[in-house]
Amino acid sequence: MKIVVLGASGLVGSHVMSAGLAAGHDVVGTTRAADSPILRRLELGDWSATLALLEAERPEVVIYAAGWTWVDGCEADPSRSLRENFAQPLAVARWCAQHGVRVLYYSSSYVFDGVAGGYTEEDPVSPVNVYGRHKADAEKAILDAAGGAALVARLICVWGREAARKNFAYQVMRAAEGAATLSLPSDQRGNPTWAGDIAEWSVRLCASASAGIWHLAGPHPELTRPDWAKRILLGLASAGQPASVSFDVRTTSEIRPPAARPLRAGMDTTKVKRFHPIVCREPEDLPRDF
Ligand SMILES: NC(=O)c1ccc[n+]([C@@H]2O[C@H](COP(=O)([O-])OP(=O)(O)OC[C@H]3O[C@@H](n4cnc5c(N)ncnc54)[C@H](OP(=O)(O)O)[C@@H]3O)[C@@H](O)[C@H]2O)c1
Repeated sequence: MKIVVLGASGLVGSHVMSAGLAAGHDVVGTTRAADSPILRRLELGDWSATLALLEAERPEVVIYAAGWTWVDGCEADPSRSLRENFAQPLAVARWCAQHGVRVLYYSSSYVFDGVAGGYTEEDPVSPVNVYGRHKADAEKAILDAAGGAALVARLICVWGREAARKNFAYQVMRAAEGAATLSLPSDQRGNPTWAGDIAEWSVRLCASASAGIWHLAGPHPELTRPDWAKRILLGLASAGQPASVSFDVRTTSEIRPPAARPLRAGMDTTKVKRFHPIVCREPEDLPRDF
């Protein structure tokens, strides 16, 4: 299978690129700015450059792993979020629909309001912030453009190795290395999900006849941030690594982030476990990846 991974220097995209290559596929990955000998430079805001790459590579599948993922940034600059989280992926999805190319778009559990928790693929969306609204609008527009044949994979609380070292695993490890204080919300719950598991599911979904919305997430939809951190620390301790931090735990309403947060955004994963079962990594497994 010829796959183009847009955003292959990111947390999810880099794992997808590795999983695609490991499965024997022909994979071309792009980055906006990373210095990489294997990735192609592409600014997705430059439509003629994007078009040129797609026309030259003629992929069978495009995996769209790019986007502007800073939730509070999106709240402050909705125009940029609209461009990068809605318009750019939709333009690519439309090209894919016109050329008979399958597209996989990564959305987010932030399409939900986080009141009920344990969301299935059938639950109605109800975003509470700009990022979630643009992800919800993008997934609908992309599915419409493809006549339902696109893949939309909703993700949450992704961890794993990444060049930018910005995900939660790094926050906990940095605090542990400096025996520092970890400031966390007490009431934001979700499924910690290893990027490698997302990548394996993604490659399997693209190689199958699957379409529509899929929740790709780890097994614990109600884990709080402090409990997630404690499980990471247990894993670090058993690997003989620094594992002592102190916690500063407050509610989200005390922290007052610029963008509202869906507090119980955890997702039900019955569908993907039924059709594409894999054994997911647990938070304690982190030392296997680092
Ligand atoms: N991480 C999570 O917990 C999470 C949760 C839910 C949903 N998601 C979704 O999953 C997808 C991937 O997230 P991620 O965490 O892997 O993101 P990430 O680590 O921030 O990576 C983003 C990737 O997109 C590229 N990119 C960004 N803007 C671009 C532009 N204008 N032109 C070209 N390339 C651009 C980046 O390139 P450079 O490295 O060169 O900047 C990077 O390769 C996103 O759609 C996100 O909304 C992630």
